[in-house]
Amino acid sequence: MEVRLQKVIADSGLSSRRKAETLIAEGRVTVNGQVVRELGTKIDPARDHVKVDGRHLKPAPPQVFILLNKPKGYVSSLSDPEGRPTITDLLGGVGVRVFPVGRLDYDSEGLMLLTNQGALAQTLLHPRYHVPKTYLIKVKGVLNDEQIADLEQGVELEDGRTKPAVVRKVRKAEENSWLEVTIHEGRNHQVKRMLEHVGHPVLKLTRVRFGPLTLGDVSLGQYRYLTDREANALRAVVTSRTKDVEEGVAPGSPKASVRTRRAGTRGWAKAKKGHRA
Ligand code: URA
Repeated sequence: MEVRLQKVIADSGLSSRRKAETLIAEGRVTVNGQVVRELGTKIDPARDHVKVDGRHLKPAPPQVFILLNKPKGYVSSLSDPEGRPTITDLLGGVGVRVFPVGRLDYDSEGLMLLTNQGALAQTLLHPRYHVPKTYLIKVKGVLNDEQIADLEQGVELEDGRTKPAVVRKVRKAEENSWLEVTIHEGRNHQVKRMLEHVGHPVLKLTRVRFGPLTLGDVSLGQYRYLTDREANALRAVVTSRTKDVEEGVAPGSPKASVRTRRAGTRGWAKAKKGHRA
């Protein structure tokens, strides 16, 4: 199968795709002994011999994708200068160096994606690709429809206005309520700050979806490897969003490849007796 030369170089782990483009443009890459400077060049990695600075590329390492259900009380990075527990403590048995795609607060729970695919991780995190993230949150009090509309339209935080969010009422109890909030950005403590802004502090936050991935039934503190179908869905997000950005298609527009549909609950479900809220 023919693949772009810069992707073959990036997939070998030698560099990012952008750096690979520079290497090509600088004439440091040969294919079957010929210097190639054209960025769109496609090659067959199984047949063609690629060298960078006169050295053969190493074969691409296997791609690893892990879905972890982070509990609260763990830092979402691989190490912590303050010596607190980190997600590394939860990844026993993973023999490959993987990196978290994004962060979750120390007191937040839920879906974290980890991978050894640096370029893919960077694309998924880049604000301009707007990969949706959905959080199930428990908040103090009950939001009225005006407050929900404010969140959906965007609220003014100290680092700027938030992009439109999708908010679904889940259930309410006497003093607290549960909502599902989908955002397309990844600012620090963003969901907590949005809810604080409308006067309903977050009491508990769980990420339940990230792009095409859902938390499902992975227990707290456990991880599993993505299925091939899930890994392909992630790659498809990157490919389709890259195409949209190249073609200037706005996220959420009818032409966009990745769209967030309103999940549909306009009213509150009745609180179940004995529920945790
Ligand atoms: N928003 C937050 O406020 N905290 C998180 O951990 C994730 C999103």
